[in-house]
Amino acid sequence: MKKIAVITSGGDCPGMNAAIRAVVRVALTCGVEVWGIRNGYAGMIDDDMAKLDSRSVGDIIQKGGTFLGTARSEEFKTLKGQQKAADNLQAHGIEGLVVIGGDGSLTGAKQLSELGIKIVGLPGTIDNDIWGTDYTIGFDTAVNTALDAINKLRDTASAHGRVMLVEVMGRACGWIALTAGLAGGAEIILVPEQPFSSDDVCKKLVESRSKGKKYSIIVVAEGASSAIDLGKYISAKTGLETRVSVIGHIQRGGAPTVADRLLASRLAERAVRALVDGRSDIMIGYQSNQCVEVPIADAVGKKKDIDPELYRLADVLSQ
Ligand code: F6P
Repeated sequence: MKKIAVITSGGDCPGMNAAIRAVVRVALTCGVEVWGIRNGYAGMIDDDMAKLDSRSVGDIIQKGGTFLGTARSEEFKTLKGQQKAADNLQAHGIEGLVVIGGDGSLTGAKQLSELGIKIVGLPGTIDNDIWGTDYTIGFDTAVNTALDAINKLRDTASAHGRVMLVEVMGRACGWIALTAGLAGGAEIILVPEQPFSSDDVCKKLVESRSKGKKYSIIVVAEGASSAIDLGKYISAKTGLETRVSVIGHIQRGGAPTVADRLLASRLAERAVRALVDGRSDIMIGYQSNQCVEVPIADAVGKKKDIDPELYRLADVLSQ
């Protein structure tokens, strides 16, 4: 393989730049030319791509976002759009592609592979919802950002004796809420994977006050409930004073943590070496501290469950 391209697609996440940098530098070491595609699949359709060298990826390992840009493309969801994108790659003589993104982006990668492009995917999303990998690039940074918010909210919740609700991202998945909630000592963690009733939440809060707790932290995954609505319900039902913080896109930004930079660099190296060795239509995942190759068809469209052990432990520790 003599020429490959790299693309970031879908929602950005901290660590994408570290992954691009590693793709470029490993490929150059293998004597392979690398092109960068701007603005996700939209850029592939618009033929917005250019050759990268070692210097193009200098000074980016520490930066959040993605210097290539990213997008969610409606046109790429159509066969016509996918064919146009594949034709552009072929016109440039690009034989292989590293796609860094979440479930939607990897699904797009699978569709491109069906049009004859050799693809290796890297799981890049703060949500940690990709099947076939213990961790996704960006998750650790996002969880640490959420944890920082929880720590700060705890100070003011404690000063005022309030119920503080923190809504975190994660789409239909509760990994960010569970991990940040457990690490932040939340009293209640609400995730989409575990049904709950608002009345039970109120009951638990009232009981904990009677046991001497002066304030409460509730972490709500965006896929479980609206924290704003729940906060209103709790104050109406219990008379407790509630405040709500929806921390939103702050979780998507910031300098990637050590864990995310290492994960991105390791997965990216493995992706390039797989392409060079003639393996494709795979995603590089991280399982039990090892990089592993997972068929891309297995990685997409499946739901990765939260760890029930973590959920159980969070409940035990919230007493
Ligand atoms: O998939 C990453 C994510 O940040 C989700 O947690 C969130 O639901 C969604 O993207 C937000 O998307 P957008 O940036 O398009 O608003």
